[in-house]
Order: sequence, then structure tokens, then C-alpha cells
Amino acid sequence: MSSLQAPRGTFDVLPPDGRRRLRLIKLAEQILGRAGYEYFAAPVFEDTELFARGVGEATDIVQKEMFTFEDKAGRSLTLRPEATAGVCRAYVEHGMHKLAQPVKLWCWGPFFRHEAPQAGRYRQFTQLDVEALGSDDPSVDAELILLLAEFLERAGVAGTRLRISSLGTAESRREYADELRAYLREHEDELSSDVRERLDANPLRAFDSDHEGTRVVMRTAPVLIERLDPDDAAHFEEVKSLLDDAGLGYEVDHTLVRGLDYYTRTVFEFESERLGAQRGVGGGGRYDRLVEELGGPATPANGWAAGIERILLATGEPAADDSRPVYVAIAKPEAEREAFRIARELRAGGLRTEMEQAGRSIKGQFKHADRIRARATVIVGDGIEVKDMDSGEQRPAGDAAEVLRLVGE
Ligand code: HAM
Repeated sequence: MSSLQAPRGTFDVLPPDGRRRLRLIKLAEQILGRAGYEYFAAPVFEDTELFARGVGEATDIVQKEMFTFEDKAGRSLTLRPEATAGVCRAYVEHGMHKLAQPVKLWCWGPFFRHEAPQAGRYRQFTQLDVEALGSDDPSVDAELILLLAEFLERAGVAGTRLRISSLGTAESRREYADELRAYLREHEDELSSDVRERLDANPLRAFDSDHEGTRVVMRTAPVLIERLDPDDAAHFEEVKSLLDDAGLGYEVDHTLVRGLDYYTRTVFEFESERLGAQRGVGGGGRYDRLVEELGGPATPANGWAAGIERILLATGEPAADDSRPVYVAIAKPEAEREAFRIARELRAGGLRTEMEQAGRSIKGQFKHADRIRARATVIVGDGIEVKDMDSGEQRPAGDAAEVLRLVGE
């Protein structure tokens, strides 16, 4: 029988990776909580229709990358490829427009896209997702971008580059899309088949192409950011000016088109030069029409998601763990219960404590204490002794309270 392995493009989280992830969750809670964002969670699968309508029929995600299955009643369900559509569904379902606006939420969890796996690109990956629904104020855009910048910086992601742009409103983009379509038709022979096929549905995606002929054509293509409505242009100016005030560097990149169809106005993306081809560590933007398109009231909204695996790749090795444990060793079998009780009391006293649980000899237990980098070993036998593992000094202790005092020093 062949041995079983995790499915292609998925992975197990093993220590010390798990500890690094928990640290990032704590960091997210601290940074986002201070700005009024609340933890939120939605189901890992939703009706397929939500993503088809929310993310967009013409996107790669919906056309090629969804893990879709039927439940026993024949209903089509999909493992969530992203969070925003589900957040909007929940906003409408729970009447969150009646709450004080903007409603600020963050969530963390697994997402699924059937992509070709490579370093930094998986079929199950983890996102930190942040959304603010119910305000079109440019300060929300700037706030979100600054929160992502702070999260990446404090997570230790080096060499980041921020690109921003504005996609205008759906109306101005429609007019522009017609102009771009006409331009692309004039150059149809030079374009990749992929871009030609999407000419009707979404010509803007041509900016994303890595096909050489298409790239040459795109160099002289009409540019959306020069055709924004005055309101959209003023909104974008204000976002930039708030980022300038905050001292955050960025590049305006009119070729920035994101892989999801719901965006309006501000879009942004952070990359890390520490990563290879999959260098996008986080991105997002406004989606002022999505809540309404999913059956809710007109609700401007904005958000981003960061890829946790890419952040871990970009931050390199974890910092050495400074919380070294106390190890409780058992010098004779009859002392086992006493050792168990002491370990419990040390933990209750707030100390990270491990105890002998593998039937090792006393020599083997000291080897193990070194291996786990214990700072002290409590030897429980006829009496109790506490050994400082750095100085080698060994002292007797009367009871658990005295052990706690000695190792707590
Ligand atoms: P996204 O750009 O598709 O946006 O994904 C956000 C981040 O998730 C990417 O920057 C990347 O770090 C990570 N990511 C995406 N796909 C993979 C993968 N296959 N393997 C590993 N990491 C991946 C969204 O998902 C939007 N929902 C963001 C948003 C929120 N926009 C508004 N609100």
C-alpha cells in the first residue's frame, strides 16, 4: 500500500511555523483592533452563485480555479477562493447596514484556488482579510493601506513596494473599456489568444498579460487613470495626499488591474522583492457596487487581503524563541504523580513547563532537557531539586511553591 500524502498544492503547518502564524494573528488583532476592526468569521464554503456573481464570471478565479462540488441535495457549493464576497453576503444577510457605519471587520483562515502550485502559490492558502463597509470616505482607503503597510512592516517583510491606482466608477470604466476594446481590436493579431478571448468580457485584463506581443501593444494603450470622472480623480488625489502626510511611499501604476472584477476607484498591491514570481504579499481596493449587486442597499466598501504563506516566506527564519521551558524530570518511578502535580502548579504559576513523558533514563532526561533548551530542570525523586541549566547550580526545594520561587527568579 502506498503511503498517503497531503494533496498537491496543500501543506501541513508544523512547528515552529505554527508559532510564527500565531504571532501574526496576535499582531493582526493588535494593529486592527486599535483601529476599530472586529474579528469576524464566515463559512469556508458558500453557494457557488455567490462567487460567480461576486468575484465575476470573466475572472480566472471563477472560470478556472474554483473547487466546486455538489452537496447531497444537488446544490452547487464552492470552497471560498477569497473572503470579500462572503463578507458582503453576511453584511446583507444580517442587515449590517443598520449598524453604525462603517462596519469594520477582519478575518483569518483558509482559502482555496485550483492554481498550478509553485513556491508561494498553493491550492489551500491562508489570508488575513480586512474589510470596511459603509463609507466612501478617502480616509478609509488611506487607513486600510496604512494598516496593511504597518502589518507587513511589523511582521518583518522586507523590501516592500506599494503600487496604487484608481479604476474609477463602473460608469467611467465602461466608457473607457469601449475605447480600450476598440484600440485592442486594431491590434488583434498581436495579442495573446487569452486576451483576445476576453476582449468582450474584460479588456482591462490585457494589462496583466505577460505575453510579449500584448505587452508591446499595451505600452501605447489608452490609460484609464487619465479618464477618471472629476469626483473619482478628486477622491484619488485625497487618498494620495493622506498617504503623503503619513510618509508612506507608493508608485501610481496605471497598469495595476486586480484579478477580481468587483473593484471601483482605489486599488493597491504590496509586493516584496524577497519573493520570486509570486511576489504579491497583499492587496485590495474599493468595491462600491458589490453589496448592492448581491441584493443589499447601495454600500460603498473597501478592503484588502494579505497572503500569510508569502509573508512567512518573505520574513525568513523565525526569531529565536526566548521563552525557554522549565522541565520536570522524574528520578524514580514512584515520583511520577508528584512530578505531574509540580508541573501543573508551575503552569498555574504562569511558567512554560514540560515534564518527562517518554520513559527516559535520568541521563536521557537531562539530554532531553538540553534538547528542548530548558532553562531549569526540576528533579523529583526522594526530594525535589532545582538545577539551573546555564550555571549548572543545583538547589533543594521543599515544595512546588519554593520551586516556583526558585525558577521564577
Ligand atoms: P487577492 O489579490 O486575490 O485579493 O489575494 C490577496 C493575497 O492572497 C495575495 O496578495 C497573495 O498574497 C495571497 N494569495 C492569493 N492566491 C494565493 C495562492 N494561490 N497561494 C498563496 N497565496 C495566495 C483578494 O483575495 C481580495 N479578496 C482582497 C480584497 C479584500 N479586496 C477587497 N477586500
